[in-house]
Amino acid sequence: MTLRLGIAGCNRGRSFLSVLDAAGFKAVAAVDPDPESLNRLSDMAGISNEARFSHYEAMLAHGVDAVILGTPMPYHAPQAIMALENNVHVLSEVTAAISFDQSLRLRNAARKSKAAYMMAENYTYGKQCQIVKAMAKAGLFGDLYYAEGQYIHDVRSMVAMPDGTFTWRKAWQMDRRGLTYPTHSIGPVLQWMDDRIVSLSARGSGSHADPNYTGDDSAVMLCQTSRGRLVQIRTDIRSPRPHVMDYYQLQGTQGCYESPRGFGDEHKVYIAGRHGETEWHSLWEFEEEFLPEDWRVHREAAAKAGHGGGDYLQILDFARACSGEPPVIDVYTALDWTLTGLVSELSVEQGGVPLPAPDPRTDELDSAAEQERASGRFSGYVESV
Ligand SMILES: NC(=O)c1ccc[n+]([C@@H]2O[C@H](COP(=O)([O-])OP(=O)(O)OC[C@H]3O[C@@H](n4cnc5c(N)ncnc54)[C@H](O)[C@@H]3O)[C@@H](O)[C@H]2O)c1
Repeated sequence: MTLRLGIAGCNRGRSFLSVLDAAGFKAVAAVDPDPESLNRLSDMAGISNEARFSHYEAMLAHGVDAVILGTPMPYHAPQAIMALENNVHVLSEVTAAISFDQSLRLRNAARKSKAAYMMAENYTYGKQCQIVKAMAKAGLFGDLYYAEGQYIHDVRSMVAMPDGTFTWRKAWQMDRRGLTYPTHSIGPVLQWMDDRIVSLSARGSGSHADPNYTGDDSAVMLCQTSRGRLVQIRTDIRSPRPHVMDYYQLQGTQGCYESPRGFGDEHKVYIAGRHGETEWHSLWEFEEEFLPEDWRVHREAAAKAGHGGGDYLQILDFARACSGEPPVIDVYTALDWTLTGLVSELSVEQGGVPLPAPDPRTDELDSAAEQERASGRFSGYVESV
């Protein structure tokens, strides 16, 4: 059965068009307040003039079975909530929410809805991440105890427009402290570890690289997981240097994985017992044995999609979630990954003190949202979407 899809946010939204057919979606409506973006996507997708909207509610009222939210970060949770309240399935861009208050409202809406919520953490679907995930699950690395993730991507050209105006990224990514965009780094490593963060301590560099922005140029968080493992995450979204958006390490009692930092480096592993000498071997030696089925079947098409095939593979899982299977990145997992960034902001502001990461499955999240409200901190809820 083909599902009627609405796309919100027509810039990022365009990246999804080429992958919809394979997963059984048809784009039938779109929304964007910018007519140029709206018409560009709609023309590409063959969306009729009557189904091109400047207001999100109007698009929902038009009648869709599912939405993809490729809108600016503050709108993700409010737009997801509105869809879930109408039992419309949601694939939301990262991060899931920009405050504890939004996180709580999103969790509650997902609990009540008959529709599925999934976060589009596409980096977890990259080929190397999927192979490492399968290897970790099969126990090749032994008992896991340490991981690293880094997202280093100078996004200043997406923030300051040639005419001097700033996009939403200034307020929500550049001027907040801590790790404002953590999920591409923390998502894969927590999937490999099958774990969640329970506490973290974060430090920021302060602002040096660009006087336009007040958040941290670089921020690092040291995290303890529920199973006592150590995870270190760094994000940097404005230092002048080549991009390394998907740097990871994973260490266990039997071996390790390390991804390339560029400049001729490779994806590499060492597995005690398989590899005699303690020397690196190419990750791709393990591709035949550990590449998951979806990747094998859709290898060629995925290779043409964005973000190393992640944009393609995640749509297949979203389609399964729409048909009743448990979403691979459900609202709890999405919030586990998102909340680390929100806690890191508080930790940085308090000089790096270790703080608990609320469990969205429990009333810890309710308490965190209550504390946020009581502190008079901005609630971050956007009423108009
Ligand atoms: N997962 C990834 O790899 C990845 C890659 C790029 C962007 N993103 C995410 O996608 C989202 C969009 O990023 P972008 O680079 O396309 O941003 P952008 O600023 O280039 O585009 C945002 C678009 O959303 C539109 N918009 C603004 N308010 C809206 C509303 N209320 N309803 C509908 N549309 C609205 C804008 O007019 C614009 O066309 C962000 O959350 C970003 O973090 C994720």
